Amino acid sequence: MNPIKHVAIIMDGNGRWGLKHKNSRNAGHKEGVRTVEKIIKASVKNKIKFLTLYAFSTENWKRPKKEINFLFNLLESFLLNKIEDLHKQNIKLKILGYKKFSLKLNKLLNKSEKKTSKNTKLQINLALNYGSKSELINAFKKVHKNNKRINEKNLVKNLQTKDIPDPDLLIRTGNTKRLSNFLLWQLAYSEIFFEKKLWPDFNEKDYNDIIKNYKKIKRNFGNI
Ligand code: IPE
Ligand code: IPE
Ligand code: MG
Repeated sequence: MNPIKHVAIIMDGNGRWGLKHKNSRNAGHKEGVRTVEKIIKASVKNKIKFLTLYAFSTENWKRPKKEINFLFNLLESFLLNKIEDLHKQNIKLKILGYKKFSLKLNKLLNKSEKKTSKNTKLQINLALNYGSKSELINAFKKVHKNNKRINEKNLVKNLQTKDIPDPDLLIRTGNTKRLSNFLLWQLAYSEIFFEKKLWPDFNEKDYNDIIKNYKKIKRNFGNI
């Protein structure tokens, strides 16, 4: 049985869910937060150590301003309402991506990270304004600037995920099979599950079923 330490998720399908059920994409984002809460709980139950959630890509800035504002307001109220609870559960929050938001949100993100930084049960990496290509370019630039040799070890040390093991499992909901600029380096050997359900419909059972199937896979890493 494969051990499972790190699960990464591309939480896709909120907009389509919202349009279908409430004639509003934003209603889908709101509903998606409930799934986030369910999956955090289920991750703790499954003794997962790292849960990386793709919440906003560097490309998502192309969306209408109204939707972007809604998403960041949602994030703000999630943190204001839940960070104490997450902290009590010994959960650590880390942001991946560059914090280029409003002063207020940047502060809240920093405060939430600092408050939970010593927690050990589960680490949630929230990918916000995250793009794997720019992460890689910046890492190469840093290696070069420090006059270090370009090799795997030096590159990994300069990724935003430097203290995080690579994901064992990647799940993308929303019936779309692509990576959308997410963890391109780190997913080199991850097991990938594409899920038909839209993110707001995804539940604990779906998650547990994927984990069960993941555990049965023969992971080769190039070996036989
Ligand atoms: C993913 O859901 C969440 C974010 C990108 C913030 P989408 O908003 O992409 O939902 P669809 O793919 O349009 O249904
Ligand atoms: C990927 O979903 C980003 C997040 C889930 C945050 P998108 O819906 O933005 O991806 P594309 O644009 O369809 O590839
Ligand atoms: Mg989408």
